[in-house]
Amino acid sequence: MIERRRSKLHGWGVFATERIPKNKRIIHYAGEKITHRESREREERYLKRGKIWCFRLNNRWVIDGAVGGNLARFINHSCKPNCYAQVIDGVIWIRASKTIEPGEELTYNYRTDGAKSIPCRCRPGCKTRL
Ligand SMILES: C[S@@+](CC[C@H](N)C(=O)[O-])C[C@H]1O[C@@H](n2cnc3c(N)ncnc32)[C@H](O)[C@@H]1O
Ligand SMILES: [Zn+2]
Repeated sequence: MIERRRSKLHGWGVFATERIPKNKRIIHYAGEKITHRESREREERYLKRGKIWCFRLNNRWVIDGAVGGNLARFINHSCKPNCYAQVIDGVIWIRASKTIEPGEELTYNYRTDGAKSIPCRCRPGCKTRL
């Protein structure tokens, strides 16, 4: 249903290889479960290379896709995305927010709450920082 390819947004991205219906659970965000404290330390390290892999699960836990992650960690951010993230029974699911056609890049809104130092490239002139 999806595959990794080079993206115009940034580095690698994830693209649909077939039509994906709205609300479909496409993939879960896999990775190591760590505390927010540990995540802050790792994010500092990751930021030096310009990429962050940590996804906030809840007030207590963060999932680090850089350790034991799957394809979901290559999904880029967009301010006008075609997917959304939803936590169901402690699992972060990436779901389609509309029908996605083959060849479209999957994106969701990261809603980052960290350093916000990476300028968003979802469209020319976007002022968001990730
Ligand atoms: C989880 S990775 C996504 C996969 C990444 N493209 C790669 O090649 O590894 C998250 C990182 O991708 C980059 N990224 C994702 N969406 C972006 C966007 N809309 N604009 C600029 N950089 C983006 C940022 O560096 C972010 O920290
Ligand atoms: Zn943007």
